[in-house]
Amino acid sequence: RLPERVTVYEVGPRDGLQNEKSIVPVDVKAEFITRLADAGLTTIETTSFVHPKWIPQLADAEDLLGVLPRDPLNRYPVLVPNERGLDRALANGVTEIAIFGSATETFAQRNLNRTIDESLAMFEPVVRRARDEGLWVRAYVSMVCGDPWEGDVPLAQVASVARRLMDLGCSALSLGDTIGVGTPGQVTALIGEVVGAGIPLDRIAVHFHDTYGQALANTLAALRAGVTVVDASAGGLGGCPFAEVATGNLATEDLVWMLDGLGIETGVDVRKLAQTSLWMADRLGRPSPSRVVQALAPK
Ligand code: HMG
Ligand code: MG
Repeated sequence: RLPERVTVYEVGPRDGLQNEKSIVPVDVKAEFITRLADAGLTTIETTSFVHPKWIPQLADAEDLLGVLPRDPLNRYPVLVPNERGLDRALANGVTEIAIFGSATETFAQRNLNRTIDESLAMFEPVVRRARDEGLWVRAYVSMVCGDPWEGDVPLAQVASVARRLMDLGCSALSLGDTIGVGTPGQVTALIGEVVGAGIPLDRIAVHFHDTYGQALANTLAALRAGVTVVDASAGGLGGCPFAEVATGNLATEDLVWMLDGLGIETGVDVRKLAQTSLWMADRLGRPSPSRVVQALAPK
């Protein structure tokens, strides 16, 4: 059985723009986010309070939040890896954050400069303080379907890291196929394993990158397994600079086209969204990889 409604968790401004070669000006980012909200997206991951040398594309997080008109009915989560990041987020009026762990040691080291244990120790005070301040906290776990350095990642290993992240006090979990290698059977098994580890379905989101063209099929498998929150990035922007084999996220337009066809409500206007992605593609100087954006482009 498929859900009647799906929440689209838009990650384009963060996961998308963090991987662009060029640095997008603050006013373009603010307009992008405003247009995404106009197209009906209610949860928009806005930026990251990470080390500016690690992700120069998002070094303007303070400036962006300073100029971004935020609709009080929408949610604008940001990535926060450590207490320094949390301090910066709190100083800028953030009310929703996401920490981001890894199912594998190699990626934990490359992305966070920490072992898995050390990264959990880094996240612990972040989640505790965030909760004390009344913030909503999401936990990502990366490399859930495979790792470019370690190969296959055992499901039990993913579920164990997911459990440990959630036990810190997070409200939601996003399962990240960072390099887009997963296939639908694997996704079904993964969700079963994570639910079996005691994480309720209504807290689980899926986060697919489309490197191998599997993201939409994987999403359908996740919906069939009972997941109702799906991460996607407008126009299919994105990747991860510390996992070079990662290309863009599942394109939000591709997702919404499929969900519209299935009669699943999202509140998103796919045509309006595609116009925004075409506009953004112009700003970035390259076409959107999304098939739906290409199909809806004026000929
Ligand atoms: P580190 O070098 O170990 O940092 O990096 P440190 O704790 O040793 O601190 C070194 C210096 O950095 C200190 O300054 C800190 O204050 C400063 P000093 O005292 O030397 O002058 N510093 C900071 N400054 C500003 N903001 C901060 C901050 N933290 C420390 N937040 C660190 C550790 C975690 C900071 C670093 O590894 C980092 O920033 N990593 C972020 C990497 C990242 O953003 N990756 C992409 C997002 S993850 C992703 O895309 C996957 C996902 O989409 C899901 C999926 O697809 O699977 C979520
Ligand atoms: Mg990602």
